[in-house]
Amino acid sequence: MTAMQTIDLSVRNLGVYDLGPYGCLPTNPLRRLSEPFEIFEQIADNLPSLNNSKQTRIVVNKLPPFPYEKLQDMELKRAHLVLGLLAHSYVWCDKDNVIDYIPENIAVAFWRVSKRMGVKPILTYSDVILNNYALNGREFCIENLTCLNTMTGTNDEKWFYLVHVYIEYEAAPIIKGLLDVYHDTTRDTVSRVLGVIKRQLGKIIGILNRMREQCDPVTFFGIIRLYLHGWDNENFPDGICYRGINNNQYVKLVGGSGAQTAIFQIIDASLGITHTSDYFVKVLKYMPQGHRYFIAFVRHNINLRTIVETMPSDELNELLNGCVNMLSSFRKHHTAATQQYIVKHLPKPSDEASGSGATPFQKFLKQVLDETK
Ligand code: HEM
Repeated sequence: MTAMQTIDLSVRNLGVYDLGPYGCLPTNPLRRLSEPFEIFEQIADNLPSLNNSKQTRIVVNKLPPFPYEKLQDMELKRAHLVLGLLAHSYVWCDKDNVIDYIPENIAVAFWRVSKRMGVKPILTYSDVILNNYALNGREFCIENLTCLNTMTGTNDEKWFYLVHVYIEYEAAPIIKGLLDVYHDTTRDTVSRVLGVIKRQLGKIIGILNRMREQCDPVTFFGIIRLYLHGWDNENFPDGICYRGINNNQYVKLVGGSGAQTAIFQIIDASLGITHTSDYFVKVLKYMPQGHRYFIAFVRHNINLRTIVETMPSDELNELLNGCVNMLSSFRKHHTAATQQYIVKHLPKPSDEASGSGATPFQKFLKQVLDETK
């Protein structure tokens, strides 16, 4: 299906875009793969101690080939997460002696599962955030959330992921509001939805600022962030090799980053904001296919700026500007977080320092902020 097709976007059809009542966040990610994969799940459970003692490679090398042919469709996302955790731990568990290949017993499966899903064979935002949480209790609040897996076993890593999960949850009313506008562009609806976007962005900023409560910047910089990196950085001039795939050719892929969330690309699109960096196009292939289509759908069909221009009103203009200012404010707070969690700890301050997603992030984030208008 192409994103441009006009289709029924009522809530019951949202599955096509991999969306649901919690927006981009699945309501109940699969917690464990079925029996043939139990050994891989057990290693994933033990990654914190294996990584800590640098035993991961020894243990992973002894695993049988991951029997990916036996995966049911509903297991694919969980399989991608488990394979991604194993692959990243294999490469990064010994940071002074990183390794430039993924062994065949997991590489072939990781490659094939990713092909089947239409995403990149690397640990993505969708893996560690969207498909890696469980809700205990009825109320959706950060205190009731747990993480299914981590690579370091630190509470800081869990909190880092859960802050993102909660932000995804609070973005859901924005997606729902945009669908309302798609169906009904009357002044009242447009005004209400602009109000929703502004209010939810305000909540999202509040959640971002809770990062410090349980994610220590030193632990993040020194331990957690390493495992999120990919293979498009100075450690791997040619990338790495997925053994048993494409005659062992080397591949460069970027690591996990908040830049792989769909929500901010959806909000940008709905507010008629465009960015010059082609990084936003590049990361589309690291997102679930449905989210990628939905961003394109919003870009072509739900432009609040254009809608507001067709019904001149001071009130609507003010609301639209309020949303843009709130998005800009999110980006300022976010840039401040990158200062606190990365820049402050760099051994040599440099504008060229790159994020886990492999951008020279200081320039990149500044440009993105300047374009938020
Ligand atoms: C300690 C907290 C955080 C740090 C250190 C951080 C770091 C970064 C870095 C370095 C980038 C540039 C891409 C790269 O090379 O990786 C980036 C991009 C981005 N991050 Fe974060 N991030 C944090 C929290 C968050 C949170 C909670 C979100 C919410 C989903 C988020 C959403 C984004 C988005 C949307 C981008 C793309 C740029 C934009 O659209 O403004 N980040 N982040």
